[in-house]
Amino acid sequence: MAVLDQFTSQKAIDLENRYGAHNYHPLPVVLSRGEGVYVWDVDGKKYYDFLSAYSAVNQGHCHPKIIDAMDKQSRTLTLTSRAFHNDMLGKYEKFACEYFNFDKLLPMNTGAEAVETAVKLCRKWAYEKKGIEENEAEIIVCNNNFHGRTTTIISFSNDPVARKNFGPYTNGFIKIAYDDLTELEQVLTTNKNVAGFLVEPIQGEAGVYVPSEGYLAAAAALCKKHNVLFIADEVQTGIARTGKLLAVDHENVRPDVLILGKALSGGAYPVSAVLANDDIMGVIKPGTHGSTFGGNPVAAAVAIAALEVVKEESLAENAERLGKLFRSELNAYIQTSTIAKLVRGKGLLNAIVINDSEEGDTAWNICLRLRDNGLLAKPTHGNIIRFAPPLVMNEEQLMDCVSIIINTLKEFE
Ligand SMILES: Cc1ncc(COP(=O)(O)O)c(C=O)c1O
Repeated sequence: MAVLDQFTSQKAIDLENRYGAHNYHPLPVVLSRGEGVYVWDVDGKKYYDFLSAYSAVNQGHCHPKIIDAMDKQSRTLTLTSRAFHNDMLGKYEKFACEYFNFDKLLPMNTGAEAVETAVKLCRKWAYEKKGIEENEAEIIVCNNNFHGRTTTIISFSNDPVARKNFGPYTNGFIKIAYDDLTELEQVLTTNKNVAGFLVEPIQGEAGVYVPSEGYLAAAAALCKKHNVLFIADEVQTGIARTGKLLAVDHENVRPDVLILGKALSGGAYPVSAVLANDDIMGVIKPGTHGSTFGGNPVAAAVAIAALEVVKEESLAENAERLGKLFRSELNAYIQTSTIAKLVRGKGLLNAIVINDSEEGDTAWNICLRLRDNGLLAKPTHGNIIRFAPPLVMNEEQLMDCVSIIINTLKEFE
């Protein structure tokens, strides 16, 4: 590489700071390559990726099967828009519908778009099938939710940073406490205009909050009783992350509307989707919804390959087994730790809570030291560190990561 091409970490960070909007606060590390569970920075230092792009890279970085599918399709046909048919979309829709056991799929690109799609679908169903009076439909959401960044989605967030000065907000949402069946039942019983209940099976961004056992099944049953759509946002929890194909599978719940994103492409390409049966998806007609890139042939090829990898490599089973091992090792350490309070999670979606206030910077400083010690993770909220490695990790690598994490935490005792 010519000297002029050499790109130092500082130069890369300076360029982002100078020319990019400051809408993120990344850990100071500049990555230039990834393979499996590893990433490398511009200086060639190797790290374990313990975030997986917020659970998008479940299949590991640059999975050869997914990249081959993308490469082949991108040399053949990339985009037709939905003005014309393409020969990949139908194949993908059939494959994904059979894979997740739904009648129909609506393809989008990002997680937030898929959530928006689910909100629109739910409202239209409410007016055309449930018989709610026009413009009166309400969707129940949970406090501390994270469903994305669009104007409507932040309208029902209670994160002040995500909301402030982005109003006016979209109406039609009722916020209740997460993991609280009494409040859910109360709203369902007293409000005839409720069309849906939008919920994350585990609240990832909020800090990996796992609801009480039985919550999802009971919530789904309440929704059924009140003819309200149970809408599962599995953008972060889905596709093997929590030790099952979907996090709702832990309680044998079948959502009326399923929202997927992130790992639907193994992190290779923005692919998201909403799945539902005909009685619900049937309300969508030409012109009511769409996206130029949604359902493009590259996305279709990538998603088929990414979903095949999940089954071929038993990623859900691996996440279940390694997740248990991870929590038991961390729990054993936490018994005597003064810096880590607890570990929680399911499968390989876990978090530790650091003994510091939410405003403190200990978790951030721990992440800097983890980086120095060869493992990349990021705080989610002030004192919580999320741990979500690619699901292609093996036991030896996991145990190596456990010792990096514990040794780093010990530096802060
Ligand atoms: C549960 C959930 N829903 C939706 C989204 C939004 O996805 P995207 O960032 O692709 O718009 C996220 C992103 O982290 C998420 O965790």
